[in-house]
Amino acid sequence: MNLIDKTRQHLEQRYPRNTTPPRFFRAPGRVNLIGEHTDYNDGFVLPAALNFETLVAAIPQNNRRVEVFALDKNDADSFDLDESITLHPSKNWANYVRGMAKTLLSEGKQLQGIAIAVSGNVPTSGGLSSSASFEMALGHAFLQLSGYRVDGVSLALSAQKTENGFVGVQCGIMDQFISSLGQKDHALLIDCRDLSYKPIPIPRDTVIIVVDSGVRRGLLDSEYNTRRQQCEAAAAHFGVKALRDVDEATLAQRAHELAPVIRRRAKHVITENARALAAAQALVQGNIAQLGPLMAESQRSMREDFEITVPAIDTLVEILQSSPEVYGARMTGGGFGGSCVALAPKNTVSAIKEIVYRRYQTETGYHPVFYVCQAADGAGELIVKI
Ligand code: GLA
Repeated sequence: MNLIDKTRQHLEQRYPRNTTPPRFFRAPGRVNLIGEHTDYNDGFVLPAALNFETLVAAIPQNNRRVEVFALDKNDADSFDLDESITLHPSKNWANYVRGMAKTLLSEGKQLQGIAIAVSGNVPTSGGLSSSASFEMALGHAFLQLSGYRVDGVSLALSAQKTENGFVGVQCGIMDQFISSLGQKDHALLIDCRDLSYKPIPIPRDTVIIVVDSGVRRGLLDSEYNTRRQQCEAAAAHFGVKALRDVDEATLAQRAHELAPVIRRRAKHVITENARALAAAQALVQGNIAQLGPLMAESQRSMREDFEITVPAIDTLVEILQSSPEVYGARMTGGGFGGSCVALAPKNTVSAIKEIVYRRYQTETGYHPVFYVCQAADGAGELIVKI
């Protein structure tokens, strides 16, 4: 059953006396083509929203309660908008709902009680931002059912605030931003300092291949926070607001002033910003072949300078790169497992898939999951004809 029918049916069964038709809000997962760990350094990223999404079906309630049913988890949560909203003691998924409501209320929005059924097809735990897509779909449901028009940038910022202040994940803005504002057949070059962005076309005959490595990202939270602190320490040393403000020449001149580990972290961020800009330019100019060396260098930098890859991921990227059809490949997302991304001509997918399935499991012991994706539009209401 598709997501619309599934969520609608659930609400009909749960609220048989309701006469208001549900409204549907969708938001996509994402993959980052290049520009990793640059967002919280006020830098540049080049992600695309994917054709995998979270769908929220919502009906208004005539009271101040929020009732949510997570169909894929067969689980429920409810809370009252007039009472103080706290973390759920055991259901992590429910904290995105509680957190989004709390953030929007704290920003002065007069929210109305709603009942929600949610389901999705963004692979979870693979580093494709299923939680950002959940937040964005929820944000639309809360705001639109309360009579607000949604501003995509503000909603992405509200979702990031929810992650940072409520859920307790110190992420940057990339995932929420691209889930909110992604454009079909395009990646977005996002300037994470002023939040301006530019759609970058992905050539028609090119597909985005995502391969889930099967390695789960155990260390991600603690290592992520350590990387952020190291980047902040480097920026403080140079007396600037963020590493965005340091160029490669300055880093080279003053590298000896930094402890080796801080130097390597700074080098990754500064060179990765340049690579994200160069990759966007190459795509605009129709030089997709230039993405190969840029993505390979990004991978090397993530492995040696930022130290966020793991051996199985390195092997997976080597396998993808060794396939002559692939334009470029690298790990994508926060690191320590998750997924790799590759760009390739559409008609070569089965050959690439064959190589990955033949080699990866034998060489690493992990089972790969292969997704052929297109860049999709960002979050919004789905108008469904009854
Ligand atoms: C995670 C975070 C993002 C970004 C990436 C690394 O996905 O949520 O904000 O920092 O890692 O590029």
